[in-house]
Amino acid sequence: MPQVLSHRQLSDIAATFGTPVYIYHAERITEQYNLLKDAFRNVDTTFFYACKALTNINILKHIKSIGCNVDCSSVNEVQLALMAGFPPEKILYTSNNISFAEIETAKELGVHINIDSLSNLEKFGKKYGHSYPIGIRLRPNIMAGGNLKISTGHDKSKFGIPLEDINKVLGLMKDTNLNIRTLHIHTGSEIKDVEVFAKGIEVLFGLVHHFPDLKVIDLGGGLKVPYMPGEMGTDIRALGAKVAEEFIGFEKSTGRKLEIWFEPGKFMVSEAGYLVTSVNVIKQSGDIRFAGVDSGLNHLIRPMFYGAYHHIENISNSDGKMLTYNVVGNICETDTFADNRLISEIREGDYLVFYNAGAYGMEMASNYNSRFKPAEVLVKNNTSVLIRRRETLQDILHTQILAAD
Ligand code: LLP
Repeated sequence: MPQVLSHRQLSDIAATFGTPVYIYHAERITEQYNLLKDAFRNVDTTFFYACKALTNINILKHIKSIGCNVDCSSVNEVQLALMAGFPPEKILYTSNNISFAEIETAKELGVHINIDSLSNLEKFGKKYGHSYPIGIRLRPNIMAGGNLKISTGHDKSKFGIPLEDINKVLGLMKDTNLNIRTLHIHTGSEIKDVEVFAKGIEVLFGLVHHFPDLKVIDLGGGLKVPYMPGEMGTDIRALGAKVAEEFIGFEKSTGRKLEIWFEPGKFMVSEAGYLVTSVNVIKQSGDIRFAGVDSGLNHLIRPMFYGAYHHIENISNSDGKMLTYNVVGNICETDTFADNRLISEIREGDYLVFYNAGAYGMEMASNYNSRFKPAEVLVKNNTSVLIRRRETLQDILHTQILAAD
């Protein structure tokens, strides 16, 4: 059974550090990483944690301490990874629609780079030729992922170089002597079906013979974790077995041994995170019972933005009578976390916990309505440490400049 923080532990942390508070469980992250390593033990696989899911530097340091690499989506994330102590060779930068200047900065920092446009590929080739190995992000025209907003590999997607342009890539490789070491795809987030990954592998295997310098197939992220009670995530063992079968078979038939890279975000941190809020107001309106919490779309936007399900429990009254609630936020917009949800009886002042809050929770938080972002606490070795203090009005004013009247 995976490790979880108990209601008691969560309430104690909320009482100590106040709410709203994001709580992360280091050992749970380690557990997820170990699952991956174990499932892929038969093939040469390296995992780069997609840190866009959660970048608190203490989380990055923990990820480093367990031996996992890191995948970044901006040069700022690359800088954070360096500050957390990752050496450049353990950092991957998978860019999307960025300026060539940012790619040059990443190159100066010495990290692995996946380039996702023909124009940047051409500039890179002209400037660096064969001297610096790179990856290319391809759009494999595969529809996958939990919903359209988080699907990235289909034929209308902005991501990657369309497969139809492969001849242009080959032309650039010839003309500028590009050193293409990696073929990358990332088809979407929350991909449950192992066959989707198999399809991606098949597309890439069909291209390998064009690339004499190729050493790595990077399959991106997108592993699904369960959000609803009873729901299943990606079968990691089945995926590991399938990938091993494909790559071992490919090596036998072509003599080419390739490394496999993955960039898991949600899989690493989603279940390790909890958002604990306090109930400000209970409001009855006709049949609807509203529980209004001291949080909102400014702290956890996933339910409103993607229609995502986050399981909610009342940790102050775990054994109370089950009643249906609309759990809503305190932002001046309709920020509904959950509709018609069965939760043990909620009283004003109770603590509600939102599960699966580790990935894309705090990371997508904002100061909308000039409200403060939550504090963050890391639980490691049974000790709770504040890793981001609560904000003050000064923080909100910090970058503003009072113009002369
Ligand atoms: N690699 C690349 C190139 C990506 O774009 C992403 C996510 C990942 C890896 C990690 O994907 P994951 O393993 O976390 O599914 N905010 C959305 C998810 C957006 C994902 C963006 N790219 C959400 O909360 O559902």
